[in-house]
Amino acid sequence: MATYEEVVNLAVRRSLFYPASEIYANAPAGMYDYGPYGSAIRRKIVETWRKHLVQKEDFLEIDGALIMPEDVFKASGHLTNFNDPVTQCKKCNVIHRADKLLEEKTKEQYREAMPAAELTAALRKHKLTCPNCKGELSDVRQFNMMVKADVGVSAKASCYLRPETCQSIFADWARMVKTMRVKLPKGVSQYGKVFRNEISPRQTLLRQVEFSQIESEVFFDPSKIDEIARWAEVKNYKIHVQLANKTTVEPMTAEKLASAKIVSGKLIAYYLARTQQLFERFGIPVSKMRFRQLDDTERAFYAKEGWDFEIQTSLGWVELAANNYRTDYDLKGHQEGSKKDLSFVMEDGRRFIPHIWEISIGLDRTFYAALELAYHDDKDKERTWLSLAPALAPLHAGVFPLLSNKPELVKKAEEVYESLRESFEVTYDQSGSIGKRYARLDEIGVPFCITIDFDSLTNNDVTLRERDTGAQKRVKISELNNVLAQSLYGKKA
Ligand code: GLY
Repeated sequence: MATYEEVVNLAVRRSLFYPASEIYANAPAGMYDYGPYGSAIRRKIVETWRKHLVQKEDFLEIDGALIMPEDVFKASGHLTNFNDPVTQCKKCNVIHRADKLLEEKTKEQYREAMPAAELTAALRKHKLTCPNCKGELSDVRQFNMMVKADVGVSAKASCYLRPETCQSIFADWARMVKTMRVKLPKGVSQYGKVFRNEISPRQTLLRQVEFSQIESEVFFDPSKIDEIARWAEVKNYKIHVQLANKTTVEPMTAEKLASAKIVSGKLIAYYLARTQQLFERFGIPVSKMRFRQLDDTERAFYAKEGWDFEIQTSLGWVELAANNYRTDYDLKGHQEGSKKDLSFVMEDGRRFIPHIWEISIGLDRTFYAALELAYHDDKDKERTWLSLAPALAPLHAGVFPLLSNKPELVKKAEEVYESLRESFEVTYDQSGSIGKRYARLDEIGVPFCITIDFDSLTNNDVTLRERDTGAQKRVKISELNNVLAQSLYGKKA
């Protein structure tokens, strides 16, 4: 298994991601830029999500503003409840996350939702001091994580950068109903940036101030939570769950989860299944996944039922997606805050506030997990490669002339490159030794390298090299499109 440091080293070396504004010494921590291949991989995660968990589910996708007025977050509860517990050093004044300090010291899990008094007591019990200067720590208090944005010049409107993409989904719901001929259940999705004033940004992409979510909110009639049109497609699919009172992961069919009332209804089991299937498409083995059932003390303030989707990494289990049964909490809150009617009227005239099942995926964490699980090196660490799923690879293939100083090889390689560009994402490279050219593409997860050598000139063929095994075979140029399409998509070009 790759270490976190190995993954970050590779990411920075190949400019997959790196600290934002890095040429400035005073750039704040907790923000990262993605370079050309990093943003390509990230875009493909979004495209895979869009295809399988938006379009195939007939969800609607919106793209909301990042800045929203204060009233939205009064109504959502964020201004009062969206807090991190902090403690401040009385000597150097540095502020720390209390729960994280305790976790580091005790190696036990402390919940951010734990009451401040309990965290203070734990700090005292374990005799914690400031990790920077050993100074005395203050009692724990709650720190609101919203990032303020004052908009306008003379009459300033109090606004905030959104802390989760779903708030614009809730604010847009009535418009969707009015203009999009909505029938329940209906998901509304969004890909976009969110902002949280993290006290202790850490572990690069895993805890950032600015990050992206790919979220869906499924609006449904609670009296029909067991009516799911495509239930047959998932009912025997095994979902990896860890129940709140258990320490082990158990594969359980969607049918079992619903019939044993482990989840509130079939709709929830259906979307847990679809979410796990999506992560399989990202190339993550099911054996590394779990949905961890949240107990009463762990759930977000708006959730009646919650399952954290987690992946096992070198840093332990990392949460990639929050799956929450938000009931009518959000629409009721926004109805009250906006004084607009957000109820839904069924064809038979019945009127009610829909309930919501949320699938909130952290894009950057998913990117990190996909990278770490794809990271491989050989035993002498002479070769490193990312065995990314074809759907996530930043490019499909590289095309190289064996020698760059032979014009006939260069010409043929350029012809092959041009012939592939229409159907595939390919790069052309003639600089450095062939081994270095392979290594560059292996490290960013490109599945194939195509080399044109002297035999290519007489035989009209190329060497096709496969990234994970390094195995090579000769392929006729006339067949190359089909062979690539078959290997990448399982079908002919
Ligand atoms: N929308 C849920 C979350 O951001 O965690």
